[in-house]
Amino acid sequence: MPAVRDSWGSRLAIIMAVAGSAIGLGNFLRFPAKAVANGGGAFMIPYLVSLLLLGLPLMWIEWTLGRYGGGFEHGTAPGIFHSLVRKNRFIKYFGVIGIFGPLVIFIYYTFIESWTLAYSFFALSGHYAALADQASMQSFLRGFQGLERNTFFQSLGWAYVFFSITFLLNIGVLFYGIRGGIARLCNWAMPALFICALILLIRVVMLGAPMAAHPDWNILNGFGFLWNPDFSALTKAKVWLEAAGQIFFTLSVGIGVILTYASYLSKGDDVVLSGLSAASTNEIAEVILGGSIIIPAAFVFFGPTDMQAIAESGTFNLGFVTMPLVLNHLPWAAFFGFCWFFLLFLAGITSSVSLAQPCVAFMEDEFDINRQKAVAIFSVVAFVLCQPAVFFLGQGVVDELDFWGGTVFLVVFATIETVMFAWVFGIEKAWDEIHQGAALRIPRFYKWVIKYVTPLFLFFILGMWLWQEWIPVIFMKHVSAASRPYVLCTRIGLALIFIILAVLVKLAWRRKRRLREEPL
Ligand code: PFF
Repeated sequence: MPAVRDSWGSRLAIIMAVAGSAIGLGNFLRFPAKAVANGGGAFMIPYLVSLLLLGLPLMWIEWTLGRYGGGFEHGTAPGIFHSLVRKNRFIKYFGVIGIFGPLVIFIYYTFIESWTLAYSFFALSGHYAALADQASMQSFLRGFQGLERNTFFQSLGWAYVFFSITFLLNIGVLFYGIRGGIARLCNWAMPALFICALILLIRVVMLGAPMAAHPDWNILNGFGFLWNPDFSALTKAKVWLEAAGQIFFTLSVGIGVILTYASYLSKGDDVVLSGLSAASTNEIAEVILGGSIIIPAAFVFFGPTDMQAIAESGTFNLGFVTMPLVLNHLPWAAFFGFCWFFLLFLAGITSSVSLAQPCVAFMEDEFDINRQKAVAIFSVVAFVLCQPAVFFLGQGVVDELDFWGGTVFLVVFATIETVMFAWVFGIEKAWDEIHQGAALRIPRFYKWVIKYVTPLFLFFILGMWLWQEWIPVIFMKHVSAASRPYVLCTRIGLALIFIILAVLVKLAWRRKRRLREEPL
């Protein structure tokens, strides 16, 4: 007898949990780095267009599909797609990406999240308090990550300890389920995160113009860097691709996670207003908080040219090198440093549990395994899969996982979902389904956006990417010769995980068919 499906308990709980999943390292590290590397104001127009034409429609699509599938006791994409089109036996395999993608992101995301826990500790313990220049802060980071042995770190030991703690904390939350674990975590972590962010925001705004030799490196110009629009970039395909990619990543849409969260709703629960609330909360956290801490702080100390060079040299340099350096210049450096890294940790953990939940839900829903057992199986498998990311960071494994899980498959799966919803399920039925129990009606113009604009936009992005990138990607042109064997092994590993998941989907359906045919 399958157990009764878990539930959120209240409307606020799911909004907080979806916002918790959306607000993550993407808001505070990836967004500033992408915005700065793509020229600040030049990035914001494609970003906002992508939010309206891709992000919001996909948010509503995922909430609606998730709630629909939950009604058939399916919490992951294979089952949800199968409930949309029962007659087609193959459609469920398109859903494999909806379990695979989150798992791949989880593998490297949890590792990066563990750095934020470690740095929260280092901020308080004063481990990096004496460092005053980019070079030494950079070698502190590289030593910690195990990329070099230096006076700060002789091994990967610290990183491994904090990774293990972070992993166990994630498993602990998952163990208590949707209502008892994830909802409870988000309930206190989200307000705490906003408090840390506000403290930092106020401190940054008070910075003024700290470098006497450069009066134009002031806080107002720091904000202007992001907000003065630059229309010339609208013709650059790369800026559009990066902006659209950031919208998917930050909203947690296009990968299957929101499908799973929404599957714990019931039929009459609103999805229109709730989806909109979660998306807006994320955008406030991204453009207002994420955009107003690191960018102006780096601007006033390093100026626009250096800041851009730092952002281009690696996504994590602004967050783990520049930011602690800036805060080291201020009184109460330990306190502000802790606020910064603990804010990142809270943002990270409320996202990583959401990445794990599709795998757990798949085992529970499709194999009738109870939650504790499903979480135990997940923890063993995921822990093993995380090891290459931890040990071979320097050989490009994390970048490769982010490229496939956090970029390509996001766009592929978003395209599949949109076509499935608007064309296979049918836009008329889909529009009615979205509005079941809705507290608000979506403007009619979005019906047309969901049917034509979103899928065309997605096909366009995919097509452009394939046209421009497939040869360099296949032949690993951007990878150094020394890293190629590692990147190749990562690709083979990913293909194997995908095949195993597809076989598991097949076995699950075969098992269910057999159970149905068995006499009582
Ligand atoms: N949205 C998260 C962030 O901004 O860090 C990352 C993420 C979580 C991406 C869940 C995708 C996902 F399904």
